[in-house]
Amino acid sequence: MPEIIVEGGHRLRGELHIQGSKNAVLPILAASVLPEGETVLTHVPVIGDVAVSLEILSALGVSVSLADGRLTLCADSLCGDEVPRELGARMRSSVLFLGSLLGRRQKVRAAFPGGCAIGSRPVGLHLSVLRQLGAEISSGGNGLCGRVGRFTGGVVALPFPSVGATEQALLAAASAAGDTVIRGAAREPEVQILCDFLGACGAKIRGQGTAEIRVMPAPLHGCHFEIPGDRIAAGTYLAAAAATAGDVTVRGIPPEHLKSSLAVFRLLGCRVDEGEDWVRLVREGMLRPVPRLETGPYPGFPTDMQPLILPLLALASGESRLRENLFENRLGLAGELNRLGADIRVCDRLAVIHGVRSFTGSSVAASDLRGGAGLLVAALAARGVSRITGRRYIERGYEEPERNLTALGAAIRLIG
Ligand code: EPZ
Repeated sequence: MPEIIVEGGHRLRGELHIQGSKNAVLPILAASVLPEGETVLTHVPVIGDVAVSLEILSALGVSVSLADGRLTLCADSLCGDEVPRELGARMRSSVLFLGSLLGRRQKVRAAFPGGCAIGSRPVGLHLSVLRQLGAEISSGGNGLCGRVGRFTGGVVALPFPSVGATEQALLAAASAAGDTVIRGAAREPEVQILCDFLGACGAKIRGQGTAEIRVMPAPLHGCHFEIPGDRIAAGTYLAAAAATAGDVTVRGIPPEHLKSSLAVFRLLGCRVDEGEDWVRLVREGMLRPVPRLETGPYPGFPTDMQPLILPLLALASGESRLRENLFENRLGLAGELNRLGADIRVCDRLAVIHGVRSFTGSSVAASDLRGGAGLLVAALAARGVSRITGRRYIERGYEEPERNLTALGAAIRLIG
């Protein structure tokens, strides 16, 4: 089982240019079956979930070529309508191929999606959206199956601003016969970036970043598109700086995308400077507790940053309370942090954290992507050596974390 060995106690200093966004590129890869002609994506992150998506695209008959971070795709040779089961079951975003394959092929088969074990992660909103736009969808022991003559367009109402279901609606609406209005849409930057991509392919989209998005479809053509920086990966490196009393600048990210997380870093007592496309975090004194913090849809404090902030709260000088409102099992990280010496008690979706002076290195196990990154942040702050198993989880979403952290002064090595 691949592991990461971390010798803690080294202050991180320096700067890095952040990788392309995992949660922006994955829906764009699902969308890439829609346009005619060649699409070129740049700044594509070299991560596990992208590799799986490219295997799915190849299996569908899309031509895929990757060289020097430049990904060239062409769906003119698309011939499949089934997402290979073993691939689809490995990540959440495979569910987005439903909307794009129905749009392009009028039929689709797929396994239920996989993804981090942070909750039950149902797909009911996705299926509801596709049905509202005219598809027949069945789900059962054999997975998901759908067919449509052509998506109709119309009004799609979301009872909750689900990121994935909003993206699903956009992918279906982009090939519909008429305009679509998505009400109750998610406002996350990754949703906005998908709209920007579909716009570059020829769709007319208005309202991205608000709760109501209007899609006016048009024939879709290939385009050149640069994947923007990953805001959660950026927040991860800033959290590592905070954990080690360091001084780190992350470039290639608009601070606006991280506004609520930067506010939390400031509440923790860190100095945060912002530029047009960079953020610098400096931590000098003790970390301060945050009496009440909770996750929520954008622009609220993102659930994906919760596992990166939890170890910081565990090192703060007092009691903090953190409520996880999005995923019912996302506080599981607390048990592993307690093995490093943290004092975190979890009841249902609330974590009560009593800060400790320091962590002590130990063996811990990653069991999901952001939880694994949270363990890495904690190990960097711990006294002594920590061994983190389940490195593959971290590599699903982070591009060469050990290289980036070593360049900032961490003492890290990989095993297996
Ligand atoms: C996306 O997941 C991200 N993944 C997640 O990041 C992120 O945590 C999440 O959005 C929230 O921001 C990708 O973009 C690939 P949701 P998604 O639909 O789309 C419930 C990471 O670490 N729900 O907004 O699955 C769901 O159970 C990952 O990068 C339904 O009930 O999130 C959850 O409670 C983890 N039915 C809530 O909505 C549905 O059909 C939010 O989920 C869909 C969702």
